[in-house]
Amino acid sequence: MKPAKATVNNWKEIFSKRPKDALPPVYEDLEFLYDYVTEKRPHIILEFGSGCSTVVMAEAIVYYPSKDPWQKNWSGNTVVSFDNERRWLFETMKMIPSDLKHIVSLHLAMMLDVFTFQEIPAFQYFWGDIMSIYPDLIYLDGPELTKATRVTIDPLYYEHKMYPGSVIIVDGRDENVEFLKKHLLRKWAFRHENIGDNGMSIFKLEK
Ligand SMILES: C[S@@+](CC[C@H](N)C(=O)[O-])C[C@H]1O[C@@H](n2cnc3c(N)ncnc32)[C@H](O)[C@@H]1O
Repeated sequence: MKPAKATVNNWKEIFSKRPKDALPPVYEDLEFLYDYVTEKRPHIILEFGSGCSTVVMAEAIVYYPSKDPWQKNWSGNTVVSFDNERRWLFETMKMIPSDLKHIVSLHLAMMLDVFTFQEIPAFQYFWGDIMSIYPDLIYLDGPELTKATRVTIDPLYYEHKMYPGSVIIVDGRDENVEFLKKHLLRKWAFRHENIGDNGMSIFKLEK
């Protein structure tokens, strides 16, 4: 399941510590993220929806140092992850192996606003200080969608802070993907891959 090169931590063993009612890991998604992060070496990953992906992306950063001379000696890579459900946030906290804790920061996200945007039930979080971060990879995989909250507008706030080559990866969430295609202002290349149970949409910032 896991790429052969990733031998440092055993994903299955880590995930087996989750409660019985936790959503099961989607290994195909995790392998995609792992490979992507290993290859692209983002400095700051901003994740919406914590869980198994938090561990996998942190591991990819910690154990596969960049060959890029600009990044080789850089030790500031981080995974900043938000969850709106206290319980699942704590479950993620408990699961992070000690050798990865130093680069993961987990936060409880509060819903700031729920509204209708061009007839779409949309929402926005309150991120507090975290609004000041400059992510070069956003992974959108949370929260659980409801009838009243189908689309998050949060990635729009970060768009102007991202530099060319940065990416927004969305797990499923087709309506949110269409929303981003329509409302992102800069020039983004888009591709969709049929990975895992919902597919992954990848926006890459061109300029
Ligand atoms: C689809 S999960 C994905 C989490 C993570 N990105 C991953 O790949 O493992 C997204 C959200 O579902 C929420 N959630 C609701 N019920 C859950 C459950 N039974 N197990 C895990 N997460 C649950 C959590 O708050 C979490 O942020």
